[in-house]
Amino acid sequence: MTAMINNGILEQAGSYQHLAVNKIAGALGAEIGGIDLSQPLSDAVFKEVQRAFAEHQVIFFRGQQITPEQHKAFSLRFGGLLEVPFVRSLEGHPEILAIMKGAQEITRRNFGGVWHSDMSYAPEPPLGSILCSRVVPPYGGDTLWSNMYLAYERLSEGMQRMLDPMNVVHSAIRSYGAAGVLVNNGDPASKMDVRTDNRAAAEVTHPAVRIHPVTGRKALYVNSAYSIRFEDMTEEESKPLLDFLFAHCSRPEHTCRLRWSPGTIAMWDNRCTQHLAMNDYDGFDRELHRTTIMGDKPIPATPRP
Ligand code: SIN
Repeated sequence: MTAMINNGILEQAGSYQHLAVNKIAGALGAEIGGIDLSQPLSDAVFKEVQRAFAEHQVIFFRGQQITPEQHKAFSLRFGGLLEVPFVRSLEGHPEILAIMKGAQEITRRNFGGVWHSDMSYAPEPPLGSILCSRVVPPYGGDTLWSNMYLAYERLSEGMQRMLDPMNVVHSAIRSYGAAGVLVNNGDPASKMDVRTDNRAAAEVTHPAVRIHPVTGRKALYVNSAYSIRFEDMTEEESKPLLDFLFAHCSRPEHTCRLRWSPGTIAMWDNRCTQHLAMNDYDGFDRELHRTTIMGDKPIPATPRP
């Protein structure tokens, strides 16, 4: 199956000709060397980046000096770019989300501060995201990722069989609805401008387990920010199982962690990972810029009636 659906990306398994690829953790994540993202990439180099991305799910590039235009140009190699709703984008760059927290902002909830897969509330959630550091605190503000293939594979067969045909309702309401924990409605004390929006109440349904369109592997697709309940169940009925799955997904052995430095870029696959931004750098500025790459409707693990 993998060979049929991977579009050639995984066909040349083995060593890399153009890149240095070094894993940073047992679960997922690799640092990529030997590449300058300010320059257009040859097809041969780009193919290896795609392969490293498919093999490691989140990849990191260090010491990159790129402009917003170069950030977008690299991102566009993977697909069209999404404008993120609810949040004001970087001035002059609607496709770039500026994730910012100022030294004076002591907030209970930072942007991205709970485990999530970007925009899983969308009918066609993003394939991936590319985050570029602009200002990093002297300590703290790390980002963690978790491997949703492993999370699925490490469930019992009984649980896998139960989840494969199930669907989950996703919505942005808890983050961006009227009582949303992220909205500041333009409060000048907040560097980001996150607005309440009626669109946040919209609900979409996705499979609880999705098939990755490149690797053919099954990945658990629930997250604590946007997964509200199982289809045809109440929130109360869904909560015990969802809570179990959220805790299971974020077990330390399923994760990796990035210490940001100036010029670091992280690129992750939203179809088979979740991530969380640490909020432990009070008194310091942090600013990172994100592009969000268009994706497809998730493929269910078992055919739906
Ligand atoms: C996000 O894209 O969810 C934020 C990640 C981060 O700020 O580290």
